Amino acid sequence: VGLDGSTNSLNLFDYEDDTTLVNWTFEINPLEGPTLYAREDDTVLVRVVNHLQDNVTIHWHGVRQLRTGWSDGPAYITQCPIQTGQSYLYNFTLTGQRGTLFWHAHINWQRATVHGVIVIFPKRGVPYPFPKPEKEKIIILGEWWKSDVEAVINQAMKIGVAPNVSDAHTINGHPGPAPNCSSKGYSLYVESGKTYLLRIINGGLNKELFFKIARHNLTVVEVDASYVKPFKTDTIFIAPGQTTNAILTADQHAGKHLIVVCPFMDTTVATDNLTATGTVSYEGTEEFYPTALTTIPPRNATPVTNIFVDSLRSLNSKKYPANVPLTIDHSLLLVVGIGVNPCATCQNGSKVVADINNVTFVMPTTAILQAHYYNISGVYTTDFPGNPAIPFNYTGIPPKNLQTQNGTKVYKVAFNSTIQVVLQGTSMIAPESHPTHLHGSNFFVVGEGVGNYDPKNDPNKFNLVDPVERNTMSVPTAGWAAIRFRADNPGVWFLHCHLEVHTTWGLKMAFLVENGEGPNQSILPPPTDYPKC
Ligand code: C2O
Repeated sequence: VGLDGSTNSLNLFDYEDDTTLVNWTFEINPLEGPTLYAREDDTVLVRVVNHLQDNVTIHWHGVRQLRTGWSDGPAYITQCPIQTGQSYLYNFTLTGQRGTLFWHAHINWQRATVHGVIVIFPKRGVPYPFPKPEKEKIIILGEWWKSDVEAVINQAMKIGVAPNVSDAHTINGHPGPAPNCSSKGYSLYVESGKTYLLRIINGGLNKELFFKIARHNLTVVEVDASYVKPFKTDTIFIAPGQTTNAILTADQHAGKHLIVVCPFMDTTVATDNLTATGTVSYEGTEEFYPTALTTIPPRNATPVTNIFVDSLRSLNSKKYPANVPLTIDHSLLLVVGIGVNPCATCQNGSKVVADINNVTFVMPTTAILQAHYYNISGVYTTDFPGNPAIPFNYTGIPPKNLQTQNGTKVYKVAFNSTIQVVLQGTSMIAPESHPTHLHGSNFFVVGEGVGNYDPKNDPNKFNLVDPVERNTMSVPTAGWAAIRFRADNPGVWFLHCHLEVHTTWGLKMAFLVENGEGPNQSILPPPTDYPKC
C-alpha cells in the first residue's frame, strides 16, 4: 500500500470496502522511521540505501519470510551487511499475516534509532474479528540515549562489564517528563465516547515495559500479529520485540489522563527518569487528572510481579483449533543464562557473557544462510546441544562452573519437523527475564512456570488447544516457558534474546531448516543484489 515517509498523508482504500475511497490521514511522526502499510498477502519491495557511515541491515520483525530468508535481515545470519553507499532490495510476501509488526536494523545496537512500524490490514473485504474501532493510533515505545549507543556497548564489551542503560524511555519518540515538568510529552487526542485501536510496539533495546493509561481499561485483541481472545486489563506488559493491539474506549471524564510507561525489573523507584509519561487528552478540554504513579505494579518485587505478569501472559489464541503440533520430532531444553568468563585483558579479569546451553554464540564473517546455500565450509557447525551438558538446579544456588564455550553452532532439522523448545531461565548472576524471539516462524506458547521445568509433570498442564501464537516470548524471571512450532520454512532462522545487551553477550543461536523434497519446499534463489561480504 505504501510508505508514509515522503508524503504527509496517504489515501487508502478502506480495508472493508473496495469501492469507497476513504481519506485516512496517517499521522507522520518525524521522530520515528516511516510506517509500512500493507495488506495480508501483499508482496512488499523495499529498497534500502545505506547513507550511514556504518554497515546496515533491516529485519522485518515477525514477518515469516516463507522461502525468502535472504530478506530476513539479521547480519551474518541471513545476509552480509549493506555497506556505505550500497543498496539492497528486500522482497517478501506477507503470506497469511495481518496485524502490527515492526522493522528494525539488525546489526550491533543500531536498532535503537533505526526502526519503524509495519501495519498489515486484513485482506479486502475481511473485517477484524472484533467491532471495528473508530480510529487507529500507533504507539511505539523506545529508548533515548544521550550518548552514541554503539560507543556505549563497544566500551562495555572492551572492559567486560554491563553497559549503561538508556537515559529515558519514549512514547512515539517523545521522552516523557514527570507531570510537573513544563514539556508535556506525547499526547494521544481522543473524542469522548469513541473507540481507538492502539497498535503498541516495544521498539526499545533493553527493557520490558509496563504501559498504562490512568482510569482506562484496555482490551487486548492481538499480540505479535496474531488475534487473541479479547482480554481486558488496566496494564499492558510488553517486551522489546513484542506488539500488542488493544482497544481503548474514551469513556472517562473529559480532560487529560496520564499515560505511564515504566520498565520492569528496574532497581529504581517509580518516578525515576526512566518512567515516560504522556497524556490521553479529550478534545476540547484542559483539565488535568493526574494519576498516582504508585498504581504501577511494584516492578522489582518478584513475587507480586510474577503474579501480575502471569495474568498478562494468560492470553489465548482466537484460532480454534490453533493447529499446535501434537507430536514432537525434536524436544529441546535450552538453558538461557548470563555468566562470567575469565578475561585477561578486561578490567576485573573477567567479562560478562551470555549463552544457551553453555554455548556463547560467535558471529561468523560470512552469512550462515549463504554458507548453507553455497556449501561453504568452515562458517558454522551443526553440533548445537539440544540439552544442557550438565543438568543442575537452574534457578537455585548458582553452579560453580559458569564457564561457557564459544562457537557458531546451529541446530539442524528436516523440513516440516515439529519442535518443542523449553526455554529455562537461570539465576546464575541475577534472575532476569529473557524475551526470546524466533525468526522465520511463529510459535505457540504451550506452557510456562516459575522455578525449574519438571519434564515429568509440567507437560500434563500444557495448553495444546488454544495457546497464544507469538514471535517473542518473555521467559518468566527464574522460570521457564515451553514453545512449539513446525519447521515448515526452509532457511536459517535466528533465535535470540531481544534484550540487545544479552544478544551482544552471546544469547543467540540459529535453526537450520533443510529444504523439503516437494514443490515449494525449497528456499528460493538469492536476489542478484544480495550484499557481498
Ligand atoms: Cu527483532 Cu532478531 O530481531
